[in-house]
Amino acid sequence: MNIGRRVVNILKTMLIYELSSQKPVSACQLKAELGVIGTENIDLREVMNLVSSGKYASFDEIIIDDQTPKELLNKFSEEHLHHDEEVRYFLEGKSIFDVRGSSDEWIRIEAEEKDFITVPANLYHRFFAIDKKVKAIRLFTDTDGWQPIYRE
Ligand SMILES: [Fe+2]
Repeated sequence: MNIGRRVVNILKTMLIYELSSQKPVSACQLKAELGVIGTENIDLREVMNLVSSGKYASFDEIIIDDQTPKELLNKFSEEHLHHDEEVRYFLEGKSIFDVRGSSDEWIRIEAEEKDFITVPANLYHRFFAIDKKVKAIRLFTDTDGWQPIYRE
């Protein structure tokens, strides 16, 4: 038994909080109030099982690093929504998802390796890479529905 690894898994908790007050938000609250699902310690195998089950029509891998064009980064970080859910599995690096709460406040989710996040359709959000290199898998139920619609 690898005790060290078990301890790391127990201690790791996805950080979720209301941005302006820094007040913590639980993953249960996030799901119940906004339909945002944040799950941690997910294995890549489980994600690939989801793909092969047919739940998602397609997937790709995205790498954000110092080669990424600024225009692309801006597309992610500007507040927007999609008519389909946005699903991400993080393979490497730390990044941030901000989602709009029920009173239009920002709820911040700090995502890192092995986190799996689903942002439901029609919920405004934005995304930032924190580490110099972020690698994630994007899963799509319908690529047409996934176009960003920016907030006016
Ligand atoms: Fe998005």
